[in-house]
Amino acid sequence: MKQKISQITKEVDSFQPKSLEEITVFRLKYLTKNGLLNALFNDFKNVSETEKKEVGQAINNLKIKIKEKISAFSEIKKQIKTPTNFDLSKPTKKNNLGSRHPLSLVESEIVRVFSSIGFNISEGPEIEDDWHNFTALNTPKEHPARDMQDTFFIQTDPDILLRSHTSSVQVRHMQNNQPPIRIISPGRVYRNEAISARAHCLFHQVEGLYIDTNVTFADLKQTLLFFAKELFGEKSKIRLRPSYFPFTEPSAEVDVSCNICSGKGCPVCKHTGYLEVLGCGMIDPNVLDNCGIDSKIYAGYAFGMGIERIAMLKYRVNDLRLFYENDVRFLNQFCSEI
Ligand code: DAH
Repeated sequence: MKQKISQITKEVDSFQPKSLEEITVFRLKYLTKNGLLNALFNDFKNVSETEKKEVGQAINNLKIKIKEKISAFSEIKKQIKTPTNFDLSKPTKKNNLGSRHPLSLVESEIVRVFSSIGFNISEGPEIEDDWHNFTALNTPKEHPARDMQDTFFIQTDPDILLRSHTSSVQVRHMQNNQPPIRIISPGRVYRNEAISARAHCLFHQVEGLYIDTNVTFADLKQTLLFFAKELFGEKSKIRLRPSYFPFTEPSAEVDVSCNICSGKGCPVCKHTGYLEVLGCGMIDPNVLDNCGIDSKIYAGYAFGMGIERIAMLKYRVNDLRLFYENDVRFLNQFCSEI
């Protein structure tokens, strides 16, 4: 009997469980009703009186050893942290979606407004030739109005340039289409400007062009008033000031009543009650003729506006550079506008 106990004790001592299955098998082998430990207790009845004390102690020690092995393993298992409240049906964390860029938002809004009154989109290349960007638009070489736009020319070919305005797209469209023409041309333009809070070497414009018989300045004014009300609110008013552009005659600069102070005067509108938003005019007959449209039959108006300028007014952004720095803290503010 003593020999049997010491043999089992050796077995138990050398047992090193590696998995839950192994410890279960171990427990069943020793601790269950038909297990080895119970068998020893049964045999204990037959042990002689003199040995009873010693053998009884040995069996009890063995029982403690077995239990210790099992609980030591459970302790190790507890330390390996397994998530107990793991719920696969729980909704996951919300994905961090990006936001549309404020310039795209404003561009889409401008496109939406003009599309609703029948304007289609027409696009052109950003790398242009001199003729489409200047000459066809009544601005031949040496014309002083070229100085209005500080242009990037390609060094190896002075005839090629980065378009300085989207007005070049009107030229291309007129060359390929006959009236009635009703288009807007959104796109990127380039100018050799020092980068500051108010100027950048690249920015975005939307050009508008409408050509048909009997088009008058009144049509232009009403279209722009509609645009201002749609973009800045029903109460908006517009003001036209005489101006100069080589491709339009007469030309005007358009101001919209300040949407911050409602025209009363504030620092944003420099206390004038109005904000300058675009240039426009009746297309100079020379431009129509240059592009293959008979100026004796047709007339038209054109306008051009900077998207950055409108975005700055709409979202009250006071530094143009923010649009190009891609700082997510700035861009995230436009998430809700999608
Ligand atoms: N192209 C002009 C600019 O970039 C903007 C402009 C003014 C466009 C008057 C027009 C217009 O079509 O009629 O400064």
